Amino acid sequence: MPEKSVSRVKEDRSFEPSDHFREHARIASAAAYRAMHRESLEQPDEFWRENSQDLVWRTPWTKFSEWKPASDDGKSGAEAKFFLGGTLNVTETCLDRHLTTSARTRAAIVWEGETGETRTLTYFEVHRDVVRLAASLLDMGIKAGDRVGIYMGMVPETAVAMLACARIGATHSVVFGGFSADALRDRMNDCGARVLLTQDGAYRRGSVVPLKNMADAALESTETIEKVVVLRRMGKELAPIAMKDGRDVYWDELSPSAESVARAKAPEAFDAEHPLFILYTSGSTGKPKGVLHTTGGYLATANLSTKLIFDIRESDLYWCTADVGWVTGHSYIVYGPLSVGASVMMYEGAPNQPDPGRFWRIIERHGVSILYTAPTAIRAFIRWGDDHVTKADLSSLRLLGSVGEPINPEAWLWYHKVVGGGRCPIVDTWWQTETGGVMLTTLPGAVTAKPGSTGLPFFGVEIAVLRDDGTPAPANESGKLVINRPWPSMARTLWKDSERYVSAYWSQNPGVYTTGDGARIDEGGYVWVTGRIDDVLNVSGHRIGTAEIESALVSHPAVAEAAAVGKPDDLKGQALVVFVTLKGDKTASKEMKDALTQHIDREIGKFARPDQIRFTDALPKTRSGKIMRRLLREVASGNTDAKGDTSTLEDLSVLAKLRDQKDEG
Ligand code: WT7
Repeated sequence: MPEKSVSRVKEDRSFEPSDHFREHARIASAAAYRAMHRESLEQPDEFWRENSQDLVWRTPWTKFSEWKPASDDGKSGAEAKFFLGGTLNVTETCLDRHLTTSARTRAAIVWEGETGETRTLTYFEVHRDVVRLAASLLDMGIKAGDRVGIYMGMVPETAVAMLACARIGATHSVVFGGFSADALRDRMNDCGARVLLTQDGAYRRGSVVPLKNMADAALESTETIEKVVVLRRMGKELAPIAMKDGRDVYWDELSPSAESVARAKAPEAFDAEHPLFILYTSGSTGKPKGVLHTTGGYLATANLSTKLIFDIRESDLYWCTADVGWVTGHSYIVYGPLSVGASVMMYEGAPNQPDPGRFWRIIERHGVSILYTAPTAIRAFIRWGDDHVTKADLSSLRLLGSVGEPINPEAWLWYHKVVGGGRCPIVDTWWQTETGGVMLTTLPGAVTAKPGSTGLPFFGVEIAVLRDDGTPAPANESGKLVINRPWPSMARTLWKDSERYVSAYWSQNPGVYTTGDGARIDEGGYVWVTGRIDDVLNVSGHRIGTAEIESALVSHPAVAEAAAVGKPDDLKGQALVVFVTLKGDKTASKEMKDALTQHIDREIGKFARPDQIRFTDALPKTRSGKIMRRLLREVASGNTDAKGDTSTLEDLSVLAKLRDQKDEG
């Protein structure tokens, strides 16, 4: 490898972009980043006018933003609008505009199934398929603003499904394929979806996830779903399914009317604030939040962040390993990359199927040049051994990204050295389902990376770390990470629960968005995120609400009370530990543990399985009956001589018993 392409390692372990990368970078110095960031805050109109030119506006916008802060009682307000007066159809930016350039025949999606087969869809083909599905949805009577559920795996058709909804202004709500039938049912009922798009089955770790059968179970108790479109991914042998007359139709048998095809080919434009999608995520109550994103601001951010953070070029093959069922997949597999005309790698299955060399063989086989993955995956690869990685030719890689949880410096350094061969910048990207796009990052080519820090604010983003009293924390003091002003891709509300939106995010400090994360900012302005400080856990990059786990557990007939907490875990970031009190006549046993595990599988999904279930006669509580989670967290982490304050604890013997209890895993 040529000397000049190797990043220089500074003494304090910070990594400057290599000259080689810098030569071609869109933003090539820290000074350029700072100037642009300043402009984005001081002259947002001009900034976004210049930086939203990829977007195909049918009617140009006239005003950048309008903001009504939260009311004093924290119950209403927090209403934001961006790109006022503008109208657009998201899919014209993601698809149509590429049909008149060389991108028309370029790969939009390069797909590899878990069993090794591959398919490539050009921009022309994705557009063709989107028009066909959009027309079929029109034939089913779907109108702008109607909700459409998507319960699919990692296949190109999932992207097609999302775009087909966007094409006709329908609001999609993708439910990750790892969610159970019950979880799907609740989400479909909450958003009132009229159509569900699903597939017969999907491969995951060598077995078939029977998505259609699970959807059928969910649909037994949904009232709004009229039609189900089923993609044949597996076929009858591998995934036997039943089709319900009048309700279910196979994807490949859709035959849209000529009139609808014509409408889908020349689609309507929608207001910049027209709803684009609802994505459910976990909060601090048992009920998931339906995060609503709208059209113009979301797309502008997805587009600009993809272009600048991933530095995507025509020659790149870009691979984001997230599932489309999470927000990362929405913004950085579908909307962002397609809006810039990127070629997107999509892989159906697990990273270690059939062995831990799979990811690296995919990179070698297809020539992936940009890899965006999660610290959990990186740590798993470290554990599986370097050989799996180094066996493959990874010389096509030129940029690496990380997302979903704090990346520990050791994992960062390994990623940089073993995967990136020391030559690839790493972009850490901090953001949330609610932020729609990346908020903090180490912009490649411009910014020196510090392993473990998620970097500096993206354009238009103004952040702060606050003390409990709401005043800014001095450099290096940890506090609450907040965003100081509204930004274009922010969630506009929670579906049918605007009050919760205001109280969850905008009422803690006036005019300020509360992220729920803790962080510190160093003297150079770099942000070091420490993790969630609310009742949300991040287990292997999956966001899990402790209250959701608890309400699932107490819905089991044997359970009297339950408390879920996180414990630090080398691999998963956080592991999920639950403390369970059984009803009087029930006994703790291995069988009971299994029953509760299966209950979680059914209520939420296998990915939310507790790592440890601990039975206890009582939970530590305050005199007023509040469970003291802080003490449970200490017990779960094996911190037996915790010095935490126990003065409000009602019964000290409860804690003593818990600490003495042998942890049998
Ligand atoms: C939470 C949001 C949006 C990406 C997928 C997760 C944590 C996310 C980072 C990062 C440290 C991170 C935060 C955040 N998080 N990225 N680069 N460094 N922490 O989306 O499910 O909405 O979870 O993930 O705690 O609040 P999400």
